[in-house]
Amino acid sequence: MFKAKYITLMFAVVVLAMGAMMSAAQAEGTQKGSASNAKWKDECGACHFAFPPRFLPAESWRTIMAGLNKHFGSNAGLDAATASEITAFLEKNASTKKHEVLAKPLLRITETPWFKSEHREVAARDWKNPKVKSPANCGACHTKADSGDFNEDNVKIPR
Ligand code: HEC
Ligand code: HEC
Repeated sequence: MFKAKYITLMFAVVVLAMGAMMSAAQAEGTQKGSASNAKWKDECGACHFAFPPRFLPAESWRTIMAGLNKHFGSNAGLDAATASEITAFLEKNASTKKHEVLAKPLLRITETPWFKSEHREVAARDWKNPKVKSPANCGACHTKADSGDFNEDNVKIPR
């Protein structure tokens, strides 16, 4: 028992350290490594990949979390306690990069200027590939997206 706990702890420490190193090496929009929260992973990873908080500013997350019962055509409603824990996690780890303050915050990562700029070289036929389906399907190309790693070295566009 003790040993298993110890190994889990060591693993957590290594993951945290790697996260810190990665975040130092990553480009803008990716500055916060791979923060995690169990409820966020479960609930926000149920229908799609759990989008890392660092890809949107806090006001976007607040707006998304306030409208979960009408979420991109789905009902993603949560009980109040879970919603407030996830909102706090998203806000704490949100992008702090300077961005235009809009009357209506952007709700899609894929509509942000940095996303469009980072992906300007992706060809239209690659977005339309059935293996990709949606630009929001990050993991189709970012082979290590699940661990929060979006480094360009781990991108592989399916053909
Ligand atoms: C019931 C299913 C469901 C659940 C649960 C869910 N979502 Fe979604 N979400 C969707 C659908 C459907 C889309 C649209 C996907 C697309 O356009 O490819 C979406 C899109 C998004 C997008 C926009 C992606 C982009 O950049 O285009 C964000 C951000 C998002 N969800 C955040 C969340 C968060 C945060 C949670 C947890 C609180 C959550 N989602 C839980 C169904 C869900
Ligand atoms: C169709 C494939 C594809 C999809 C889907 C995709 N990306 Fe990318 N992404 C790329 C490519 C290609 C690059 C550019 C890599 C390079 O600069 O060589 C990139 C670059 C990036 C970068 C910059 C990486 C760096 O090291 O500078 C980030 C961050 C990123 N994507 C996040 C996302 C997120 C978040 C999603 C989902 C919401 C997503 N991407 C969806 C293909 C994709």
